Amino acid sequence: MITAAIIGCGRIVAEGHAYAFQALKDRVQVIAVADPVPERRALIGEMLGVPEEAWYADYRDLLSRETPDFVDLALPHFLHEEVTIACAQAGRHILSEKPLATSLDSADRILEAVDKAGVYLGIMHNYRYLPHNVRALELIAEGRIGDPFFVRNEGLGGGHYRGASEYDPHWRAKGERSGGGALLDNGYHNIYMAEALMGSPVKSVYAHVGTYVQKQDVDDLAVVLLEHENGGVSSIQVSWAVRGGGQWVSEVHGTAGSLRFANGRLELFENGRGEWLPQDAGGFDHRSSFVTLFSEFITALEQGHPPRLDGRAARHNLAIVIAAYESSRCKRPVALSELGE
Ligand SMILES: NC(=O)c1ccc[n+]([C@@H]2O[C@H](COP(=O)([O-])OP(=O)(O)OC[C@H]3O[C@@H](n4cnc5c(N)ncnc54)[C@H](O)[C@@H]3O)[C@@H](O)[C@H]2O)c1
Repeated sequence: MITAAIIGCGRIVAEGHAYAFQALKDRVQVIAVADPVPERRALIGEMLGVPEEAWYADYRDLLSRETPDFVDLALPHFLHEEVTIACAQAGRHILSEKPLATSLDSADRILEAVDKAGVYLGIMHNYRYLPHNVRALELIAEGRIGDPFFVRNEGLGGGHYRGASEYDPHWRAKGERSGGGALLDNGYHNIYMAEALMGSPVKSVYAHVGTYVQKQDVDDLAVVLLEHENGGVSSIQVSWAVRGGGQWVSEVHGTAGSLRFANGRLELFENGRGEWLPQDAGGFDHRSSFVTLFSEFITALEQGHPPRLDGRAARHNLAIVIAAYESSRCKRPVALSELGE
């Protein structure tokens, strides 16, 4: 049995990670939790049957007294570097919520600490395992749409995801706590999915990122163009500022056909005709994406190899986000090679 501890018992742990731990209870046991807010550590501790003496207010006490195989980190972004490095120095494997950090210097310090400690680091790129994305990737691998050349992804909404009410539900809208807005928080997922659907890494980034409606010091609109190594292009638009009419768009277009995800279903266009695939061919199931990712991470620990979605993947995706902010600031395309990728 693999053992785990959770640091940060907020909303995504209650709504996603805890579900995964419960689904995988034959393979993983949560032995400790940490959160400075008593209600949060009690909520998650009780949900997962963690004995009360292992509910910690200070994560440093958890790390000095407990020896879990890995630590699951789900914290406001400004704490990611400090806590991830402390976990590595305590000799624990780590599964970190995205983003790994809020700057590339910070990400590099984490990767250095992880390498030095010889522990594994996994990153929560869970949209990769949303059932509709899994099915779309299978269809692309079967050649059903030919060679992808255009990925289009939009998530236009009117606000940010609220954090747990007992802590600071609006930390995402505060730059010193989040490090970035709609792009870092939401567009982040669209970026690694664009690379996966295109089957090709991003080479350069051109973007406009701004703040239009919310009274905050982070972005609430990002319009991003990604140029891929294969010559294909991805268009990503995310917002917290759109008051109405905004849509969820997820499309990939190839030389022989197209795929889109709409109304909870995938539609495949081939030979000039569109066909809605059955619901069981993949819907939007956020919770199941965590089960698959946690399962894959636990398998890596059981078998003694690094996870597939690792610290390098985390740095790479963060570099694309940072390139988009930089492109918007200096009004030119930014090559990933400029950022050490
Ligand atoms: N992968 C996804 O689909 C997804 C979805 C939502 C959030 N997230 C990520 O999960 C992370 C957490 O987001 P959230 O929405 O759950 O936030 P949240 O505000 O609901 O939870 C954060 C928790 O951290 C706790 N905390 C604060 N300081 C702490 C400390 N020093 N030690 C331990 N705990 C501390 C808070 O009390 C709170 O319970 C972020 O990185 C976010 O980007 C990922």
